[in-house]
Amino acid sequence: MHDLETRPCSLAAQIEALVARHVKETEALEDSHLDSCIDEAAIQVQRHTLSPFLPTAAEDLASIFNILRLGPRHIMVDLGCGDGRPLIAAALLCKCRGVGVDISQQCIALAKSIVSQEGLSDRMVAFFRWDLLSDQEAVLNRLVEAVEAKAQEAAIECKDGVEAVVVFLYVYPTLLARLVCLLDRLVRAWRDFRRVEVVTLTYHLEAPVGGGEGEGVLYRECGGRVEIHTLEKKT
Ligand SMILES: C[S@@+](CC[C@H](N)C(=O)[O-])C[C@H]1O[C@@H](n2cnc3c(N)ncnc32)[C@H](O)[C@@H]1O
Repeated sequence: MHDLETRPCSLAAQIEALVARHVKETEALEDSHLDSCIDEAAIQVQRHTLSPFLPTAAEDLASIFNILRLGPRHIMVDLGCGDGRPLIAAALLCKCRGVGVDISQQCIALAKSIVSQEGLSDRMVAFFRWDLLSDQEAVLNRLVEAVEAKAQEAAIECKDGVEAVVVFLYVYPTLLARLVCLLDRLVRAWRDFRRVEVVTLTYHLEAPVGGGEGEGVLYRECGGRVEIHTLEKKT
């Protein structure tokens, strides 16, 4: 079905090849978001202007996948998932399951359409249109439920179950700062997983999230642009 895996080229090149298949739709989406941001920045009403759609570059995704050794025993959650390319690439190239959330109807529609064009099922990658800044309790519960469903599917298909939940954020600092409380609660809710990795790109969290006293919270900065906070389950 996919010739990506069999090609003798780097992970970044494989992601580039995947992105190239949908580039027209994505560029149109990017342009429409930039236009709307110019308008909305002027009136400063729409929440999503806190972090407009801008896709992660293939090289950055490849280095994140490599650093995390992403595989079938990971579940990746992209908060502000845009056109879904990080999760779709992770599913196709690393067999990693994913849950993506975005406020933009257009982004979610495009992500779902790429999922179906690529022959993936929503058992592998599910996308939801939610506002991460709205009712935090509801967002938290829905995310926990969505990841639990993916974990159950992973456990069925892979005996060892889930190695780690990876929460990925490529959002502007204005939005990132407002997501810290939600992140903290999510990481605590997922403490029963062996590991939770919170990965930010370009913009950084002020402090590690989810770690109480005595918890195994590790912090790694990988080459300046990628930052990872890891919470290891106590054994
Ligand atoms: C910089 S883009 C990142 C896209 C994708 N994660 C990637 O790396 O390619 C940020 C995304 O955050 C979304 N976003 C902004 N505010 C949001 C909110 N309140 N709730 C959910 N998503 C939001 C935007 O619609 C946009 O698609």
